[in-house]
Amino acid sequence: MSKLLSPQELRRRVRLDALLLAGGAVAVFLLASTIWILASDALLSAVAPSKEALAGMQMWKGIGYVVITALLLLGYLYHRMAELLDSKARIQQSELEMIERLGRAAEWRDEDTAQHVIRVSRICEVIALEAGLSPHEARLIALASQMHDLGKIAVPDTILLKPGALTEEEFEIVKRHTTVGADILAGGTTELLRTAEQIARYHHERWDGSGYPEGLAGEEIPLPARIVAIADVFDALTSNRPYKEAWPVVKAIASIQLSAGTHFDPNLVECFVRRLPEINEILAQHPDSPSLPAPTGEAPGTDATAA
Ligand SMILES: [Fe+2]
Ligand SMILES: [Fe+2]
Repeated sequence: MSKLLSPQELRRRVRLDALLLAGGAVAVFLLASTIWILASDALLSAVAPSKEALAGMQMWKGIGYVVITALLLLGYLYHRMAELLDSKARIQQSELEMIERLGRAAEWRDEDTAQHVIRVSRICEVIALEAGLSPHEARLIALASQMHDLGKIAVPDTILLKPGALTEEEFEIVKRHTTVGADILAGGTTELLRTAEQIARYHHERWDGSGYPEGLAGEEIPLPARIVAIADVFDALTSNRPYKEAWPVVKAIASIQLSAGTHFDPNLVECFVRRLPEINEILAQHPDSPSLPAPTGEAPGTDATAA
């Protein structure tokens, strides 16, 4: 197994390797070219029947040299670029796998919501695209959303799985999942981790400023978090939870629409409504496990949407 290096050391090594590789390639090229020029000139001078013939032969030799060099360069660059892109793809893949696993870790103790992160992720992508974001931005939000409840690992089972209403104190503990999740993700160097941190921290903020943890309002709330807020609440409403039965989809949609401008960004609610056929399909494609415990029918917790 190769030694694990610090990011600075790794960067230094990569630069040094690149310099050695490029320097080596240039040195080989210069050496081979010099030998070729000297040797071929000597050979042509020996075999050319006249000065005119020698000039013609040298012209063709020059053309041949350029063509062969270009072909060799093409082969070399192709090989190196393919290696580079392959490494990049593998790094991206490992990042995606880590995210998926962090999302799963967050849901592990709360297996009623095992499909929750997948549905939220897909609904987020649909809303983001409808809101005019680029496919790259929409995908980024979809992936980052999978860690929105990462901080739930800090919420005790007695509260997380409580079948009845939460007390004030218990709800204060639940609220901490936003800052705990964001703190775990803080300081990330990739766009994906930075987006995930914003989402974890702000997905329970409300458009009118009455949310938590910071009480941000309107566009102060980062756009990815505003998108996740709608997808998260909609999915929580349409799912069985320890404290409530799943709402019919029509009732959940009406609730989201009613909260446009108070809980949710009204423009994003419009985007959500425009894409309802696809969102319904997502719900149908990712149903929760059939082994859900029957809800107790008790009153919902302090915040039925603290999913
Ligand atoms: Fe949450
Ligand atoms: Fe959630």
